[in-house]
Amino acid sequence: KHVALIFGGNSSEHDVSKRSAQNFYDAITATNKYDITVFAIAQNGYFLDPASSERILALEDEQPIVDAFMAKIDATDPLARISALRAAGDFDIFFPVVHGNLGEDGTLQGLFRMLNKPYVGAPLRGHAVSFDKVLTKELLTVNGIRNTKYMVVDPKTAQNLSWEQVVAELGDIVFVKAANQGSSVGISRVKSAEELKTALADSFQYDYKVLIEQAVKGPRELEVGVIGNDDLLVSEIGAHTVPEQGVGDGWYDYSNKFVDNSAVQFEIPAKLPDSVTQEVKQMALDAFKVLNLRGEARMDFLLDENDVPYLGEPNTLPGFTNMSLFKRLWDYSDINNAKLADMLIEYGFE
Ligand code: DAL
Ligand code: MG
Repeated sequence: KHVALIFGGNSSEHDVSKRSAQNFYDAITATNKYDITVFAIAQNGYFLDPASSERILALEDEQPIVDAFMAKIDATDPLARISALRAAGDFDIFFPVVHGNLGEDGTLQGLFRMLNKPYVGAPLRGHAVSFDKVLTKELLTVNGIRNTKYMVVDPKTAQNLSWEQVVAELGDIVFVKAANQGSSVGISRVKSAEELKTALADSFQYDYKVLIEQAVKGPRELEVGVIGNDDLLVSEIGAHTVPEQGVGDGWYDYSNKFVDNSAVQFEIPAKLPDSVTQEVKQMALDAFKVLNLRGEARMDFLLDENDVPYLGEPNTLPGFTNMSLFKRLWDYSDINNAKLADMLIEYGFE
């Protein structure tokens, strides 16, 4: 079978995707079962030919490669953005490793469907609802899966919102988040009226819908992997803590995740009371189902000071970098990278 591995994309997670895709490339190769053709999606949204894409995957300087590609193609062709896909010949399945916008919001999965090819990971609707932080919370809430208190504002309703109202409903520390963004972009931690104003303005740059969410006090952050279609497997739980003085803002933000994780302490498996471990795993499985997911996802949780778990967010194309817990959790569970890649491809064909 022949796999088309797609990485990159036009989101802020373009570079993270390269590191995830390198690991998946090695993992798929190690199965000795599949041919692989790689396609990078450049920051400008164009799919690049396999030879260029391989150089980008090998971390060569990207801009000259993209410039050379753009000079070769007819950019007036309405299908120029995806014309490089022709070079794959008759491949059997798409393996997307594109985080964030376009990759993780269902757009790419829509393209796969139009092209009538199977693909690894969740269907279009699973990605779309899971990428929208408001739709996610609504689905979790109606299905009784515990998540933090929240309110939703648009640019108009935000104008009439006072800090006092926010505090009365959600408490005196909140997170403000653009509804559709990955990797902690467009997110602020807010403790005052001033900060609320700045945070809303920032989030509205990314989306017309913004979530204001209760902050869990002194949380432990937990991550759990789920794979499968109808019969699901759940990984052990991983934990990470960011010391207050860590890089970034003292929470697990973009800089802690992908720039410098030396201040972050990982724990695999997380030391938790048995009942909490069971509850978190069950919530992860339940959320996977209610969010219409298939194939793979990572569920992120916050544990409050009384060990009560809240489902934080689903990640439908979880990072697979060397720092990523999704990769390390399956490794710990004796599902090595090659086995995991093989299972994900098999699920994609089902
Ligand atoms: N969005 C990044 C890649 C993650 O959650 O792992
Ligand atoms: Mg995420």
